[in-house]
Amino acid sequence: MYPPLFIKWQERNDTGVPIIDEQHRGIVSIINSFYYLTEKGMCDDALCSFISKTIKNYSRIHFLTEERILKTAEYPALEEHIESHKSLAQETERVERDTLNDKDHRLLLEFLKKWWIEHINEQDMLYVPYLREYEKKATDSVYPRGQALRQSVPFR
Ligand SMILES: [Fe+2]
Repeated sequence: MYPPLFIKWQERNDTGVPIIDEQHRGIVSIINSFYYLTEKGMCDDALCSFISKTIKNYSRIHFLTEERILKTAEYPALEEHIESHKSLAQETERVERDTLNDKDHRLLLEFLKKWWIEHINEQDMLYVPYLREYEKKATDSVYPRGQALRQSVPFR
């Protein structure tokens, strides 16, 4: 029997912005791998700190992407959103230090799960209607007949 995922992605967690959703799922995927390896007893301090660094680096890429999209769309609550990203980076450092001291990786896992679920479902969802409206206006002005702005290439 395969163990269940620590965080199970649901369609309702999607923002509708392809690159943001892809990155959110990427972060969740790394957290799930972290959980799996911890549960299997494979996560020693070296691996834990490697995974934690990976999450921090990937979060940085994601925050830069998200902040750029919100800035381009002139999202009015951009500054608050940037602040919440900064506070996650600081909090993660703190929890990571505690985790390594206590030798209990579940502390960091629970923190990451709670923070990301709340951030995506609450703060990120706040910009969804705004971006939807922004994208609609931009699309209408470039493609008045509602043609697709871009097409995704399927992964083979
Ligand atoms: Fe965000």
